Amino acid sequence: MAISNASPRIRLITGASSGIGLALTRHWLGRDTPVIAVARRASSCLALRDLQKQGMPLHCINTDLTDETALGKLARQLQQAPLLPEQIINCAGHLHDNQIGLKPEKRLEDVTMEKLQQSFLLNAFAPILLAKHLIPLMPQDRPTVFASLSARVGSIADNHLGGWYSYRASKAAQNQLLRTLAIETRRRHPNLCVLALHPGTTDTPLSKPFQRNVPAHKLFSPQRAARQLATLIDGAGEKDHGRFIAWDGRDLPW
Ligand SMILES: NC(=O)c1ccc[n+]([C@@H]2O[C@H](COP(=O)([O-])OP(=O)(O)OC[C@H]3O[C@@H](n4cnc5c(N)ncnc54)[C@H](OP(=O)(O)O)[C@@H]3O)[C@@H](O)[C@H]2O)c1
Repeated sequence: MAISNASPRIRLITGASSGIGLALTRHWLGRDTPVIAVARRASSCLALRDLQKQGMPLHCINTDLTDETALGKLARQLQQAPLLPEQIINCAGHLHDNQIGLKPEKRLEDVTMEKLQQSFLLNAFAPILLAKHLIPLMPQDRPTVFASLSARVGSIADNHLGGWYSYRASKAAQNQLLRTLAIETRRRHPNLCVLALHPGTTDTPLSKPFQRNVPAHKLFSPQRAARQLATLIDGAGEKDHGRFIAWDGRDLPW
């Protein structure tokens, strides 16, 4: 099914091929609202292709968010379509990746330049560059949302356990970049709400290797995490601009 700006509110979701991003995509498509799904392999993702086969208003775009040239291309594609999103939800992120030898550090000796760079590229730099390229496309005359999935472990004040140097630090950097964005956009995009969100520990490929010590009632299904996040995002307004909040709507310490 084609999407156009004559349809109801358009949402753009990154990381839409897996985990929470895919669950959010299903959540909103299930409510008949169009979604632009972005991932490196969005067009070959079987779950997304199934949704398209069912006639859902879903548009898939392959983009590597760590490549700024690709982000510029994504913006041009959206402008030309035109597909101008009212909500952008960044769900792309990584904690481990066998293909690039990324795994969370247990101790100082595990920290390497490469792991730090890989973590910062996707978890910190991609969200702010996504904002740089896509916020100019968002309508200015109605409420809009730019939300990005951070993580409680990115909170410096809440860091009592240590470990996971690169992931923690990259999420803390993302938080600072989003906070700075919120300050600038308050003036330049008064209808935009910028949010950093902690989804809660959720059963996805990202958390799979680290679920052993998580009590069952604290491990959300992707569907539940998506429902909770969608409630926050759809209810977000001026009062929430620049906040770092958890799935239950509570503020997290920076
Ligand atoms: N799961 C949890 O318990 C949990 C807890 C706290 C915070 N979070 C945060 O929530 C977010 C979503 O996590 P998840 O658990 O849903 O992870 P996931 O299932 O591993 O999904 C990650 C997504 O990111 C995309 N991605 C990876 N590298 C990319 C790149 N270079 N360019 C574009 N897209 C890329 C992947 O798609 P492709 O491979 O197709 O590109 C995939 O769709 C992450 O930021 C994570 O840090 C998760």
